[in-house]
Amino acid sequence: MTTPPIELKPSSHPLSDAERDAILASPGFGRHFTDHMVVIKWTEGRGWHDAELVPYAPLSIDPANMTLHYAQEIFEGLKAYRHPDGSVALFRPEANARRFQASARRLAMPELPVDLFVAACDAIVRQDEAWVPAHGGEESLYLRPFMIASEVGLGVRPANEYLFLVIASPAGAYFPGGVKPVSIWLSEDRVRAVPGGMGDAKTGGNYAASLLAQAEAAAKGCDQVAYLDAVEHTWVEELGGMNLYFVYEDRIVTPTLTGSLLAGITRDSLLKLAGDLGYTSEEGRVSIDQWQADSESGALKEVFACGTAAVITPVGTVKSARGEWQQSGGEPGEVTLKLRKALLDIQTGKTADAHGWTHPV
Ligand code: PLP
Ligand code: COI
Repeated sequence: MTTPPIELKPSSHPLSDAERDAILASPGFGRHFTDHMVVIKWTEGRGWHDAELVPYAPLSIDPANMTLHYAQEIFEGLKAYRHPDGSVALFRPEANARRFQASARRLAMPELPVDLFVAACDAIVRQDEAWVPAHGGEESLYLRPFMIASEVGLGVRPANEYLFLVIASPAGAYFPGGVKPVSIWLSEDRVRAVPGGMGDAKTGGNYAASLLAQAEAAAKGCDQVAYLDAVEHTWVEELGGMNLYFVYEDRIVTPTLTGSLLAGITRDSLLKLAGDLGYTSEEGRVSIDQWQADSESGALKEVFACGTAAVITPVGTVKSARGEWQQSGGEPGEVTLKLRKALLDIQTGKTADAHGWTHPV
């Protein structure tokens, strides 16, 4: 399929340089948005059409819009980093595009061609390039591509009209504490996703399903929830918005993709990067009993969480109904920090990218 051209309608009211610089000095996460957004329509029988780059603005939504009622929505998250020569590169946008297609299939939505997804990301980054933070730190421009049903009606069936959008937001650290370890509540009753459900799709409903457990974790003084499988309540799956890695003396293990956890692109990158650094990295099953016993015996050296927004974040305290323990003395572990630096160095263009992951914009 050929890519429809993206028509440019530059914003008539962009922020001043001074206003933008003030935001870039302390962007936080997901609080500020750039001057433009991409909008592409899909209509049954016509396919993708009317690709536009328009001023960032609210959408006008009919109260009977099908997404509002039946949640046919999917999204992605990827980052653009400023490289040392001032150029800008996205990290593995084709991988996000393919996952977006997989999410679309699961939710009976139309698949956006990979080249159109990437062209849309390129277009907004090029237009709003001034919003990409300077090279030197960990700041980036976070892109949020997403798709919603745009048909109006209350019948329960796949919609026959959709909107694909890309918005962009300058991003600092996802966790305000920086690389400070996060505390985890290990949920033995609430689950995020079930076999045959939508756990491996990046759809808003999975995040809605996680919010109550997240609030309960916060009430227990924890930053994040770790979910177990929904059948045996035994096997560790992932956090609400990040995958997990377990660091042993001789190997690094991340939970196998069972269908009810998200196939993280950071997770996949680290499986390869760990090998580059001389570690044995593998997918495997980790039970809650093993997590606790191996932590208490000292066999499990470090645990970390990973994802686009949070990069790599060490896990410190783990709390559960069965007790509380600490990973690597509550400090960021050595392997965690080494992998974190190796990944960020590729993303920010500090080191050569042997895997072809960086995509110059
Ligand atoms: N798991 C969930 C539920 C997520 O929302 C995310 C974030 O995107 C991840 C894992 C990590 O995925 P990625 O590394 O592709 O950002
Ligand atoms: C991401 O890391 O891109 C995520 O989607 C996690 C969260 C912000 C939803």
